[in-house]
Order: sequence, then C-alpha cells, then structure tokens
Amino acid sequence: PPQGAFRNEPFLDFSQRENEHDMKEALVRIGDRLGYEYPLIIGGERMLTAGKIESRNPSRPAQIVGIHQKAGAEHAELAMQAALKAFETWQYAPVEDRASLLLHAGAIIRKRKFEFCAWLTYEVGKNWAEADADVGETIDFLEFYAREALRLAKATTPIQYPGERNELLYLPLGVGAVIPPWNFPFAIMAGMTAAAIVSGNTVILKPSSDSPTIAARFVEVLEEGGMPAGVVNFCPGSGATFGNAIVEHPKTRFIAFTGSKDVGLDIHERAAKARPGQIWIKRTILEMGGKDSIIVSSDADLDAAVDGVVASAFGFSGQKCSACSRAIVEEPLYDVFLERVQQRVAKLTVGDPAANPNMGPVVNEAAMKTILEYIAIGKQEGRLISGGNAVSTPENGYFIEPTVIADIAPDARLAQEEIFGPVLAVLRARDFDHALEIANNTEYGLTGAVYTEDRVKLDCARQKYHAGNLYFNRKCTGAMVGAHPFGGFNMSGTDSKAGGPDYLYLFTQAKSVAEKL
Ligand code: NAD
Ligand code: ALA
Repeated sequence: PPQGAFRNEPFLDFSQRENEHDMKEALVRIGDRLGYEYPLIIGGERMLTAGKIESRNPSRPAQIVGIHQKAGAEHAELAMQAALKAFETWQYAPVEDRASLLLHAGAIIRKRKFEFCAWLTYEVGKNWAEADADVGETIDFLEFYAREALRLAKATTPIQYPGERNELLYLPLGVGAVIPPWNFPFAIMAGMTAAAIVSGNTVILKPSSDSPTIAARFVEVLEEGGMPAGVVNFCPGSGATFGNAIVEHPKTRFIAFTGSKDVGLDIHERAAKARPGQIWIKRTILEMGGKDSIIVSSDADLDAAVDGVVASAFGFSGQKCSACSRAIVEEPLYDVFLERVQQRVAKLTVGDPAANPNMGPVVNEAAMKTILEYIAIGKQEGRLISGGNAVSTPENGYFIEPTVIADIAPDARLAQEEIFGPVLAVLRARDFDHALEIANNTEYGLTGAVYTEDRVKLDCARQKYHAGNLYFNRKCTGAMVGAHPFGGFNMSGTDSKAGGPDYLYLFTQAKSVAEKL
C-alpha cells in the first residue's frame, strides 16, 4: 500500500558535495553503458528488426546513446494481439496489485535516481536540475496515480436510490496507444503509461525516436516491478508508419498523446475515422504545444519578474511546452526590464549538460535549423537584444545562445508560432488590459504568468487570462504533480490535467450497477 498521503518528491540539492559526487559518478557509470542495443518487447518477447533507430547525444552527436529497433506496421498487429491477450487478465487484476506495480516502480527509480538523471543528460541534454525534475516528476506520477486508482475503486454514486444498492464502477477501456514527446522523455512517457495501466488497460508504447533509451529503461523497471508480459509493449518506430498504424488500428480503444499541435491534430483526425471491425469511438487524450506568455505589470517586483522570465524562457533551452516565449511588459517598465533581462542572460552559461551549465543543447539538427530560422525572422521582426547565434563546439553539438528579441508586434510570427527553443520575444503593452489582450491572442492556451502586486489585476487575470495553467508572481514552468494539474486550452490540447484528480477518468469508462434490495 502507499506510504501515507502523496507528497512531491523533493528536488536534489546539487550544492551538497554528496549529491554532486553521486551525479558525477552516475555520469561516468552510465557513460560506460552508452551504445547498447535494445529490442522491441512485445508480449514479453524480445524482438529485433532490420531497420534501426540511433539515439544520439545532442551535445556530441557522434556519441550513440542507444540503438533501437524500428517497429513497422507489421509489428502493430503483433503488439495489438499481445496487448489484447494481456488485457483479458490485467483488466481483472485487483486494483491493489496494479497500484503496487506503480509504487514498486517508483521505489526502484527513487533508489537509482542519479542513474536516471544521467540517462536524461546523455539522451536529451538535460542539465542536472532539469534531469532531476524529470525523474522526480516520474516518481510523482507513479505515486500519485497509484493512490488515485485506489480512490477511484472506492467511488460510489452520489446518492443511493431507496430500495436499491447503487454502484459506480470505473472500468478500463482496453488497449491504448501511448505516444509521448522527447522533451519530458521520462515523466510524460511514464505518466501516460502508468495512468493507463493502473486503470486496468494495456498499452502499446511508442516512444519518441529522440528518446527511446529512457523509455526502454522504464519498461525494464516495470518488468523488475513485476509487470505481467504484454501489459506494456515497447515499440520504438517512426511516427508516420508505426505511429499511424497503431492510431488507425480498429482494436485501439484510446490514444494518449503528448507532442506538437500538427501531429496531435493528425492523430485526432485519423482516430475519428471508424475502421472496418471497429465497434467504439476511440478516445483521444491530446496534449499539444504552447505559446506561453508572462505579463510584467508596471508595479511588478522587477527582480522577481526578471528571474521568472529568464528561468521560464531558457530552462532546458526553452524546450518546454510551458516555456515563456513572450514577455509582455507594461510601458513604464519596458526599457528597464529589457536592460535587466539582457544583463541576466549575459550570465547564462551554455555547454555540455554533463558539466551542469545553465543551458545545454537543443535536441537535434532539425530543431537547431528551425530555431535559427526563427531567430533570422525575429531579427527582421524586432530588435535583437541578446544572443542570436549558434554556439560551435569541437563535438558539433546543437547549441544556440539564449536569444532575446524586443519590440515584437503582437501578430508577428515570433509572437504567434511555437519555436521550442531558447528564444524570448518581448512585447510592449500600453496597460494591463492591453497586456491581457495580447496574452490571449494566440491559438494556444497552455501556461501563463502575471507579475504584479495589484490584487485587482490578479483577480482580473484569474478571470480573463485564458490558459490551462496560470501562475501569479512565479515562473510559468515547473508544474508540480497534484498541486498544478497540467493541460492546456484551445490548440494546446484536450486539457487532460495530468497529475490532477480527473486524469484517471480519461482512461476509464464508468458503469452504473443497480441492484433491487
Ligand atoms: P512531435 O509531435 O513531433 O512527436 C510526439 C510523438 O508523436 C513522438 O513520439 C513522435 O514519434 C510521434 N509521432 C509523430 N508523428 C506521428 C504520427 N503521424 N502518428 C503517431 N505518432 C506520431 O513532438 P515532439 O517534438 O516530440 O515534442 C515537442 C512538442 O510537444 C512541442 O510542440 C511541445 O509543446 C509539445 N509538448 C506538449 C506538452 C503538453 O503537456 N501540452 C508537454 C510536452 C511537450
Ligand atoms: N509540466 C512541465 C512544466 O510545467 C511541462 O514545465
């Protein structure tokens, strides 16, 4: 059973010598385990394919982190049959057993925390604190959803009808396709998978091709934790072939996806079409991109606002759906805010995250190219304040300077399109109402923040700022499981609120049973 009430996993303090030592030691130890080959795991069986996916360290692309199989459409059928077979029994496994699998996995990960941090550093370029936050959130999801499943199993109808015994049973849906992004390759991948299986579903897990190794390591943890064969079927593969095949399969009951808007909308459309032999409407849980803003009001605590904007814009090189990509600053503070941001950004260090700088690389060559194209557009649309260039390294890593571009118009491309890199646009607002109008002017609605000491402005933002996760006088990244259920409005997704009290309902269907007494 869970050990007490849920509490968030504490962050590691790397200023403590012991933690610093353990992290360095883990980097050396995991450094010796790079380049291994990982099989597909379908129904507990290991399989190899002709095609391979090479996962590379974005700081030194010549370094292979893991070699993975490339599942094709033919493996979709095998994985589906294995998941359907496992579902026959897993759906009836006592909820205590399913919850205990998650708790067991969480305990294993907690014990080997530094090792998982090191995998994240090598595979996607997280510095120590970012890696620790990803590992901590993974443990949180496992602990939280285990408790939520136990709570849901005790749910009942709001009233008992006289002369009857009324029950409300939350049943699993069936086989789900779980399709996570690369940027929280541990927490989001494990969170969606854990929510699905603790609810009694079985899963075909297709990790991102940029981060399959961390997913493979998670599936090993589940196996170590006692997961029966076929409950999670591990299938790296390309989105266009394997991804589409599992989304379109008539026996797929639900799709839990987190990623970009374009892919999310494509999955939505494909899933909506009923295929021959399909007897249900597929459920889709789609969490997508963001174009998130921080409003800095004229009365804001300037130090706090600069801290919050810089942390939200450049943490993990801006590669978060929650990242602040627009600072909307009220006129009276605009110039001094820019000056202070410029000074702060000049102090940010960029380099190999194994050495724990402020910022590591962006994830791959294509991302680097796209981000540099946006910077070129930004130089036309506004005034370059900081950065603006690639950083070259002997290892040809994908590094970009933290970049700030001021005087961006609210309808400029830099103000409207998700860049997913270390680029901050600064926009000038006449007053608070204008700032709110700008904050709400994109197709997205994921996170946002407001810095002000004025209670009236906060109340106004609480009502009118259209974002799924709104923060006052703090940064707009770093949602904590349980405290900040996470999910966005509009084109940011289905607002599924991961880490919240409603999340498991999305992975279940409720059955009402009435017995006459
Ligand atoms: P992506 O959309 O490129 O890929 C996400 C996943 O979808 C990957 O596993 C990919 O292989 C798969 N995929 C690609 N094409 C597919 C297809 N046709 N069918 C099925 N699967 C397919 O996104 P990404 O680059 O991995 O992640 C970055 C994006 O994710 C950003 O837009 C970011 O804002 C978003 N994101 C959103 C949240 C959130 O909670 N809203 C969290 C993290 C990231
Ligand atoms: N949950 C992540 C954050 O809040 C995306 O930054």
